[in-house]
Amino acid sequence: MTPAAQNEWRKLEALARRPLDIREMLAQNPQRPQAWALEGGGVFLDSSKSLADDAALSALHSLARAAEVGEKLHAQAQGAHVNFTEDRPALHSALRPSASARACPAADVADALRELDRAIQFGEDIRGGKAAASDGRPFARVIHIGIGGSHLGPELLCDALSQNDGPEIRFVANSDPVALSHALRGGEPKSTLVAAVSKSFSTGETLENARAAKSWLESGLGAEKAASHFVAVTANPDAAVSFGVPRERVFTMPDWVGGRCSLWSAASLSAVASIGEKQFRDFLRGGGEMDSHVLDSPPEKNIAVRLALLGVWHCGFLRAQTHCVVAYQHRLRGFARYLQQLTMESNGKRICADGALSSAETGEILWGGEGANDQHSYFQLLAQGTRMIPADFILAARPSANEDAEAHRRLLARALGWSRALMTGRSLEAAESESLAGGMDAAAARGLAAHQECPGNRPTNILLVAALDARALGALTALYEHKTAAQSFIWGVNAFDQWGVESGKKLTGEILSAMASGDLSELDASTRMLISRIYPAD
Ligand code: F6P
Repeated sequence: MTPAAQNEWRKLEALARRPLDIREMLAQNPQRPQAWALEGGGVFLDSSKSLADDAALSALHSLARAAEVGEKLHAQAQGAHVNFTEDRPALHSALRPSASARACPAADVADALRELDRAIQFGEDIRGGKAAASDGRPFARVIHIGIGGSHLGPELLCDALSQNDGPEIRFVANSDPVALSHALRGGEPKSTLVAAVSKSFSTGETLENARAAKSWLESGLGAEKAASHFVAVTANPDAAVSFGVPRERVFTMPDWVGGRCSLWSAASLSAVASIGEKQFRDFLRGGGEMDSHVLDSPPEKNIAVRLALLGVWHCGFLRAQTHCVVAYQHRLRGFARYLQQLTMESNGKRICADGALSSAETGEILWGGEGANDQHSYFQLLAQGTRMIPADFILAARPSANEDAEAHRRLLARALGWSRALMTGRSLEAAESESLAGGMDAAAARGLAAHQECPGNRPTNILLVAALDARALGALTALYEHKTAAQSFIWGVNAFDQWGVESGKKLTGEILSAMASGDLSELDASTRMLISRIYPAD
């Protein structure tokens, strides 16, 4: 964090010591909902149920100015090497059709867009049967093999947008062989296409699954035919070719698109086979529309900056330990899981750009899931737990085509009801008098009321899209990307590398070598004990 930002940080610490009450802030300022609402890129944000007042918001904007958040968001979109430990840009926005994001002189964007077009066309050809199996018939199933960003984004696209009118797409991420065997179950090599997606083409889990799937194809079809049932998507095409994928069946993604943002790239080839070119292009368009909003709006009107600042406020100053995201659409059930990688792989960092240890808590701990069913799960903790957990609720105003409008209305009522309940809470007196009215004796009613009281004053942001379509999904995904980047600029960490994950990968390699050689002497005592217990000496 820059000295100027540290200065603003201290002012915010003083502001955070004041007690704030969302109920009072709404009652005292009837204009607060309008004043705290923002709209852009197809998303409407009601942030009026945040645990922040005008003074805090204005100080947060001073922090953003001191941290040069607006300038850095622009610099990122223009190709600045924001990934400073790997000396490269983070330019996923250049794959989206927005004038602001595409005007990037710094990288070979035109080549990347041509390759993206080639992948989209191939996905569409799989879907239409033009890219056919070796017997000339359309592929009935695509096995998408990839992990992390090479899995979560394409799966999110399929879950959210598939109309089940193309080939069936099955995802394999885990190296537990059960994952692949489940995906292959009921399928036949002659009607299956395998897509191995790995930016690095060196990720152990993906290569193990890709090897097993390739053998499965070859044992059913022979090596020559099997080659036409396998494609690869990667930023390391030579490795894919060495693996045995014909060069013309290798699709590339640029190295300046981070793995966790690779759903905008050729990595979504199999998703295109499922959802179709039109929806995928609409998804890109939605992302581009959000880029235009974020890059062209002043910080005070900018939804990504608002979400970033409120996140920093709630977790950095009000000591919220986690941040919950609940999407009120079954088709967005994977969104929180997608955001987990985006948020925590990006900002789970403790060292700032200047090499110093961060003095602030960085990286929101993001979790969540799907409304309304999660209301019957962890919402209890949101309502009555000892911690304050801010939540984002994502809603679609209208049902999607062919969806029951009445059922959708009830779903929205459940979301709005909970957002209100978390804020209003339930007083001891209300709980007690309800029990008394039901005939309970006074002592029992008082005792029970303590357990029924809900403190309230728990913040929620409502993010509203018109309907959950491809454009809205693109806008929401790009919005959280910009939010994550904006937070990294405030904290001063690099949101675009992931050295912690790399070190985990390396240690796995060391353990595999030790297991293979039987020489455990270099390992720690706990790991030695566990390996000896799992594989006792004869
Ligand atoms: O988890 C680290 C990571 O590099 C992610 O960033 C990435 O999405 C995932 O592994 C998969 O990597 P790859 O696409 O190179 O196989």
